[in-house]
Amino acid sequence: MAEENKNIYLITLNSIFLLALVIFAVNCETLIFVNQAPEIPQDCYVIENNQLVINLNDVKALSVVGGSALVSDERIGDKILIANTGNESYRVVSSHCTHRDKALRYNHDAERFECSSMGRAKYDLDGNAKSGMADGDLQVYNFTIIQNKMTVSLF
Ligand code: FES
Repeated sequence: MAEENKNIYLITLNSIFLLALVIFAVNCETLIFVNQAPEIPQDCYVIENNQLVINLNDVKALSVVGGSALVSDERIGDKILIANTGNESYRVVSSHCTHRDKALRYNHDAERFECSSMGRAKYDLDGNAKSGMADGDLQVYNFTIIQNKMTVSLF
């Protein structure tokens, strides 16, 4: 009898565990990776006249093809992800997934931006939603680069 109670207890425990696992897996809040782009220190950029000006010489993560970096500054009202896509070309997008605002990362090999959540939204380099649970295209920021200074139009 004791053995039978033990089995029922284990089955119940396993069922609870499996239920918790399913809830955890389908919830889009679940992060599938944590290797986000490094944040650009505030002394490497200025914000003025609705523009973000970054001295690219000071941002090591952006000096390599495939590198990416994040500007997270409460004065902007958005987190901005900048990616060095190669051939002296960059992309500047909002780092917020259009599904539930989770963080994005730049995947250079796949040439896309990807959501960190289980919804697995994927966007092309122009910010267009391509797959996963994206609810629309990404905010894309216009920018210019003159003498290695990137000027991003914020509004
Ligand atoms: S937050 Fe759900 S797919 Fe990005």
